[in-house]
Formats: sequence, C-alpha cells, structure tokens
Amino acid sequence: MTGAVQELLSATPPATPFDIVRAALVELRVSDLTASEHFYAGLLGMIVSARTDDAVFLRGWEERQHHSLVLRQAGAGEPAAVARLGLRVRGEDDLDSLASMFAARGLPWRSVEAGREPGLGRALRAWDPFGYPLEFLAAVEQFPTQHQRFDLHRGAPLLRLDHLNLHCPRVEEAFGFYHDALGFRCSEYISTDREPERVTGLWLYRKPNVHDVALTAGTGPRMHHFAYWIAEPAGVLRACDQLAGAARSEVIERGPGRHGVSNAFFVYLRDPDGHRIELYSCDYWTGDPDHRPLRWSVNDPRCRSFWGTRAPDSWYDESSLVLGPDGQPAALAPARVDERDQRSEVLA
Ligand SMILES: [Fe+2]
Repeated sequence: MTGAVQELLSATPPATPFDIVRAALVELRVSDLTASEHFYAGLLGMIVSARTDDAVFLRGWEERQHHSLVLRQAGAGEPAAVARLGLRVRGEDDLDSLASMFAARGLPWRSVEAGREPGLGRALRAWDPFGYPLEFLAAVEQFPTQHQRFDLHRGAPLLRLDHLNLHCPRVEEAFGFYHDALGFRCSEYISTDREPERVTGLWLYRKPNVHDVALTAGTGPRMHHFAYWIAEPAGVLRACDQLAGAARSEVIERGPGRHGVSNAFFVYLRDPDGHRIELYSCDYWTGDPDHRPLRWSVNDPRCRSFWGTRAPDSWYDESSLVLGPDGQPAALAPARVDERDQRSEVLA
C-alpha cells in the first residue's frame, strides 16, 4: 500500500530554529525508592551517579552525561508515574526558541534553572498538545565513559538510553506535532490494510537510528516504555539469564526476541512499580536525507515479533501514567484504533 499515508509520513520536516539531538532522560516516580534502586542498579547493573534524600540518578555504562534515569520517591498517596521525558538539544539558545514555539501554540511551559538536580544545567519543561511531560536539556555535566572499563561491568550491559515509547490515543495527530513542530522524521510505521488506512504505530527519530520517540495506539497519554541500548543480542540473553539466576524471572514480560519493526533484538521487563524498560539491540542507520519510512501491515504477524510470536495483552494494555503541569496524573483518553482488533483475521 503506497498512498496518502506513506506520502504524509515521508515528508521532510520543516526546518526548526532549534536542534533536538536525541532522547536523553526519563524520570520515574516510584513507590519504594530502595526497591527501585535495587532493580536498576542491583539487578540490571546501572551506574549510580548521585543520590539525594528522595531520588537516585543513574546512567548506562557508555554514557558520559551525568544521568539518564531519575528514580524519585512518590509522595504519600501519589501513584507511580512518569514525571519527565527528556530530549537533549544542541545548546541553550534552543531552549529559548522552544519556549517561543510552545508559547505561540498556547502550550504550558516553564524554565528550569541550573542546579535543581545534580548534573543538569538550564532546561525547559513543556507539555505537548497530548499531555506528555517533555523536558529539553541543554547543558549536562560529563563523566568519563565506562564503556571500556570491562573490569567494572556487572549486571545487564545497559549502555545508553535509546528511546521513549508513548501510548497515544491520536497517533496521526501526534505525528503532526512531532514532525511539523519538533522536526522528527518517521522511520517505520504499522497501518491497516482496510481503507481508510489507519496508523497504529509510528517510529520517529532525530538521531540517525530507528527512533527516539515511538507513538503507539493506546489509552493515553501514558508512557509505554523506555529503552536502553545493548551492544549485541547476547547481552539481552545475558540479562535474562541473570534475572532468572536471581529468581526474578517474573519481571520478564515479553521476549527475548527480534522485532519486525526496527529489526532490534529485545526483551521487555517490568520494574517494581510496573514501569516497563526494554533492552534493545541492533537496529539500523536512518541518517540519509532521502531515507523513507518502512511500512508494516498490521496483519503481518512478523511486525511486532519477527518470529511471529504474539505479545501478551499486558503489553498492549498496561502503561505508566504521566504527570501534568499540576503534578497530577494526566486524564486519559481511549485510543481510536486497537492493533489487536485490526489483526483479528490473523490472531483468531
Ligand atoms: Fe522500544
């Protein structure tokens, strides 16, 4: 099928007065900070960069930026949720340009001064039209990489944050904002064979691999998962073996396996609050200027798992709440399309 949807998703985004480099950070509100630190640092082996009274700041083995994952204790009675989805920008001038864009669209934003948390400089908080809590980061304190400190490596080999995946009720409208306003390009998408063609998932990138942000049809705004890069499939398998060895195999939700979309070798894990982390390995280059999106039929059983295995319903239905400008969980709306319904002739 090559039609209006393919043409829409293939369009080169307009030039923006700012330069978003990549997905770079996520902040999770957690119900038990000790349990969450044990999961990410103890079981998965991430590096603890800093601690404060109510938060732990972590990074992957390769990462030079101070941290890419924040675990922050949720207040009494507050749910586990996602407080920030971080995107790195080229420089501080970009923060001003982004603030002007959000203001012109009537969207909430606020400046964040340097020093509010260890390792981060000035930033911009903003909420997109769909309620996702974005944070644009300019200056980040640098550490020496531990990529080749093989003597220090332990746990799963998480190297760097790769992408954020969002459950989104209105995927096609969200594409308009991320493409037109923020300058993201589309690498792959899943759509229906039936007319009118409906998109059930989009993979969008700024750095030249498959994605920094994925938008997948589902009740939202919620975060479906965040993903760390693993150098090779053997690292994904090693992580599974280590979790099982620690008698924690119940945290393995889906996989390991190979995606159709992205070609990545993957496994999905659930942390103590149900936040979902993907270990992700071996996607591909998308940086040529004429790179066009790859379409998958929703009826192709290989699109989600290249070997044809079905994702569990929890993977489709469960996601993390996100916090709005008032600090409360954003109100949810149902998706207009469910990938599983579209595939009924395959999955029946
Ligand atoms: Fe992913």
